[in-house]
Amino acid sequence: MDSMTHQAPGRVAPGGAAYGTVAKWLHWITAGLMLVALPMGFAIQHVKDASKMPFYAIHESAGVTIFVVVLIRIVWKRISPPPPLDPAIPRPMRVAATAVHHALYAMLLIQPLLGFFMTNAFGFPMRGQTAYLFLIDFPKFMDAAPGLAEWLKTFHVIGGWTILVLLVLHIGAVVFHQAIRRDDTLLRMV
Ligand code: HEM
Repeated sequence: MDSMTHQAPGRVAPGGAAYGTVAKWLHWITAGLMLVALPMGFAIQHVKDASKMPFYAIHESAGVTIFVVVLIRIVWKRISPPPPLDPAIPRPMRVAATAVHHALYAMLLIQPLLGFFMTNAFGFPMRGQTAYLFLIDFPKFMDAAPGLAEWLKTFHVIGGWTILVLLVLHIGAVVFHQAIRRDDTLLRMV
């Protein structure tokens, strides 16, 4: 493929195998919510005054929404299976891609659950100033349990760093496909 053709508009994914419109929307909604949840999560500990509360509310609302969107994605994946990866991509790379995708799905379900139960165990459920989207009070799930809360917090911190590593691998792979292999894998999802 010459450079003119390569740059031309209207390019298609390898083998014409792109994700469907619904899958693409769900993917980019997840990405947008992650852009809110992850930096806010890391930022919370550095906010010391009363403005901490909106940080919690926004972080927790984004996290709960991610959980719901990922559940919908899993159901949708069964209804409309993703297109197979380009067979020209070496098998170890395809295995690695699938492993990272599955790990991201798992972590984006586990992490919100850890956060949700942590806030409850701290006696600080999503109500009042930290209501879902500042509007919807969630029921109090359990009485405060400080010991359990500390454990859940430890796992939530580990989960945050794990997700960060997975995202570096995921986005790094996209950059690798576009810049090094130039195989237009990104076009499957845009
Ligand atoms: C995919 C969704 C989520 C991601 C990626 C995420 C990520 C993070 C990260 C990276 C931190 C900072 C950890 C650290 O101190 O190094 C954090 C803190 C926190 N997260 Fe989440 N989180 C998610 C969902 C949730 C949910 C659903 C809730 C509650 C309903 C929640 C509640 C909290 C709280 C309260 C903190 C602050 C803990 C503290 O410093 O006291 N998170 N989160």
